Amino acid sequence: MIESFKLKNVEFKNRVLVASGTFGYGDEVSDLVDIGKLGGIVTKSLSMKPRDGNPNPRITETASGMLNSIGLANIGVEKFISDKIPVLRKHNTIIIANIAASSIEEYCSVLEMLEPLSGVHGFEINVSCPNVKEGGLSFGTDVKLVGRITKELRRRTQKPLIIKLTPNVTHISEFARVCESEGADAVSVINTLIGMSVNINARKPKIATTTGGLSGPAIKPIALAKVYETRNAVKIPVIGIGGICSWEDAVEFFIVGASMVQIGTANFVNPSTGITVAEGIKQYCQKNDIDDVGKIIGTLQTNKTISIIDSWL
Ligand code: SIN
Repeated sequence: MIESFKLKNVEFKNRVLVASGTFGYGDEVSDLVDIGKLGGIVTKSLSMKPRDGNPNPRITETASGMLNSIGLANIGVEKFISDKIPVLRKHNTIIIANIAASSIEEYCSVLEMLEPLSGVHGFEINVSCPNVKEGGLSFGTDVKLVGRITKELRRRTQKPLIIKLTPNVTHISEFARVCESEGADAVSVINTLIGMSVNINARKPKIATTTGGLSGPAIKPIALAKVYETRNAVKIPVIGIGGICSWEDAVEFFIVGASMVQIGTANFVNPSTGITVAEGIKQYCQKNDIDDVGKIIGTLQTNKTISIIDSWL
């Protein structure tokens, strides 16, 4: 049974990754989870300088989901290189460094610092954080800027380059197309949706920054539709993210067109979810005589003449 997946020059042992910001830098949970059974870890976003992030409260639970406004808090790329990479190297899995920045120059500088390191196998570029005033959505909702960022980073790396897209646009497929044409190897679909939650006694938002990013099972149907739209617009692989809690959820994403999946919010409930999902996918394939997970990707049967989403593409 083939579980592995090759992206550019990197072989993932299975198609299940843990999403940025939900697994720290791996070391926090390494006593609880057999990290070597994951397809890979996407690190918390890294910026050039350490960031404290947004004021508290910055997380609140919602129906079937969670709102966060962390504001890209992170230890900064230098500390990541000195303190985290030596630990991450010991785990037998693929490490994708997620990079966030407030200028194109910052994206390039952080990537250039990480590019030569053997402990970093690829990059996921965050152009989609809804919780910062500079960078984040101000980049990710501008198709020309997303194209320029992709082009500049492509020139600087031979490793897999993945762009993480926002769903907070009308047609995510336009953004995926520009990433593909500027040389990205894959796109991650989707980051969180802008949301709010209100304390009715205080008449105040439950999140200090008023809005935050909604994630978890509440967004899974939206994520599936965005993956389907993207997959039908580009040839590069689409990495599906959004509310995946079980192997059944992951299989839905494969059927609509995801080549890999990322587990996000579910890690806060159980950091071993990724491993359970990977094992469940394997058993599903064995039970259904599928010798390669890749064979179910994009196999959704639709009536294209009446499908609304197909009419956009
Ligand atoms: C955050 O740090 O605010 C969340 C990161 C993201 O949504 O990209």
